[in-house]
Amino acid sequence: MKIAVLGATGQTGQFVVSQALQQGHIVTAVVRDPAKLDVRHDNLKVVEANIFSVDSLKPHFRGVEVIVSCLGFPTSFFSSVTGYTLSMMAVTGAMREARVNRIITMTSWYTDPNSGTQSPYLIRFLLLPMIRSVLTNMFEMEQFLQSVDDINWTVVRPPGLKNLPSSALEFLTHEGYCVPDSSGRPVGSTIGRGDVARFMLSLLNNNAWVKKGVAIITK
Ligand SMILES: NC(=O)c1ccc[n+]([C@@H]2O[C@H](COP(=O)([O-])OP(=O)(O)OC[C@H]3O[C@@H](n4cnc5c(N)ncnc54)[C@H](OP(=O)(O)O)[C@@H]3O)[C@@H](O)[C@H]2O)c1
Repeated sequence: MKIAVLGATGQTGQFVVSQALQQGHIVTAVVRDPAKLDVRHDNLKVVEANIFSVDSLKPHFRGVEVIVSCLGFPTSFFSSVTGYTLSMMAVTGAMREARVNRIITMTSWYTDPNSGTQSPYLIRFLLLPMIRSVLTNMFEMEQFLQSVDDINWTVVRPPGLKNLPSSALEFLTHEGYCVPDSSGRPVGSTIGRGDVARFMLSLLNNNAWVKKGVAIITK
């Protein structure tokens, strides 16, 4: 399959690129600084583009079947985070013009401000307030995608990310803002980035989560 990866220089994005190449896909890595990606492969094209510009993205999306986005923007206490919504508006605009209609993107557990009430004390009262500006803009991006009818999107929501390669562990999934156990409490708090990449790529041939947000964790 022909896929374009946004955020390809990031920690999860690099796992997506390497696993996609291992699986035989033809990959366009859309980056702002090609020097940051040192992977070389016959099936990999690295292109420079502005993720906030339809015109900049459009030529790189032509002929691509699926966009996979692992973009991330830093938290800010002094101003709102806007990168998730602004980039997604440009990305979906470019997808429309280039006639690409599938995107798999990632946000996080607890993007909904009303979620997280069952999470452990430290997560609820320390971590979530610290990253709220990021979660808020992720949630706004998710709301934006809800209003997009003509594109088959999937939002993958992982918990805390660890820099671990892909494993053979089974995934637990839930259409919501965390993966709860039978009493409604989250079943864990972390996942390896390699496994997030593995889950995202498993959706290339699976329409189960189209137009849905899915929280994931490994068993
Ligand atoms: N940390 C956690 O525990 C956690 C948990 C759940 C979800 N998440 C979310 O999961 C996503 C992936 O996380 P990660 O740790 O893999 O991300 P990361 O390593 O920080 O990578 C972020 C990617 O976004 C790109 N990017 C940022 N601003 C850009 C811009 N203005 N123009 C072009 N590219 C830009 C970066 O490009 P450069 O390399 O050029 O900077 C990089 O490729 C993020 O949205 C993160 O918030 C994180």
